Amino acid sequence: MSTQTAFVTGAAKGIGKAIVERLAAEGYRVVAVDRLEAVHDVAGALRAAGHDVHSDTVDIRDRAAVAALLDRFAPLDVIVNNAAVTSTHRFEDLTEEMFRETFDINVVGTFVVAQEGARRMRNGGRIVNIASRSFAGAPQMAHYAASKTAVVGLTRAMAIDLSPRDIRVNAVAPGVVDTDMLHYMTPERQKAMLGLQLLGRIGQPDDIARAVSFLASRDNTYMTGHVLVVDGGRSLGQGQLPPEADPND
Ligand SMILES: NC(=O)c1ccc[n+]([C@@H]2O[C@H](COP(=O)([O-])OP(=O)(O)OC[C@H]3O[C@@H](n4cnc5c(N)ncnc54)[C@H](O)[C@@H]3O)[C@@H](O)[C@H]2O)c1
Repeated sequence: MSTQTAFVTGAAKGIGKAIVERLAAEGYRVVAVDRLEAVHDVAGALRAAGHDVHSDTVDIRDRAAVAALLDRFAPLDVIVNNAAVTSTHRFEDLTEEMFRETFDINVVGTFVVAQEGARRMRNGGRIVNIASRSFAGAPQMAHYAASKTAVVGLTRAMAIDLSPRDIRVNAVAPGVVDTDMLHYMTPERQKAMLGLQLLGRIGQPDDIARAVSFLASRDNTYMTGHVLVVDGGRSLGQGQLPPEADPND
């Protein structure tokens, strides 16, 4: 079977790095991009281990640069739109500038890569957009939650528009994952977050990469327009409570 090419954004660290590592280990030719130079270290380490991984620095909002980069590796089989930014602000203090910048990267940037990528994708390809379970609402993150809700809408609309080419488009919505994105939280908030996780731990980047791997694979034959929530059961809303008293006692 011919080698498949996967294009992954936000690949310098965190979840994007884990996705690149997993797809490389699965035998894809991986193109890892980020606006940080550290993406070259990620690719270099994987190449040293014998994997076919390329890297480049690009800002996903720069359509011309994205298109030129994609031209070098077309045709593509998989695109993973993972690059995004976040921050926390009281709603009353959230500036319009911050709101617009978050949308510009998380939504417009994702659209740019998805559109330029789809133009260079084989029929039968797969696109995975990284949303966030915050699309269901999150404290002090109105800009981020709204942007990730937009990513969900974009995913569903793309799934419809690209279906004639059998391109399957899905989103993964991670819960709390241990990356730099989490480290903006105070230790108190991180501790409180831990108490909300049904599985009793914060997610690891590879927990998300595993879900992406399935949606990106040829084994994903019949899922499109889906939002796969990978949050350790957080959405059940229980957290880890002390056991109930035994009614038989
Ligand atoms: N960590 C979490 O708890 C969590 C939860 C839900 C969703 N997510 C989502 O997972 C994805 C990865 O997040 P992470 O936790 O690994 O974050 P991270 O901050 O560690 O990594 C994000 C990467 O995206 C890159 N990036 C940002 N803007 C860019 C741009 N304009 N052009 C190119 N690259 C850019 C950054 O340089 C960085 O390397 C994001 O979409 C994020 O919203 C994360």
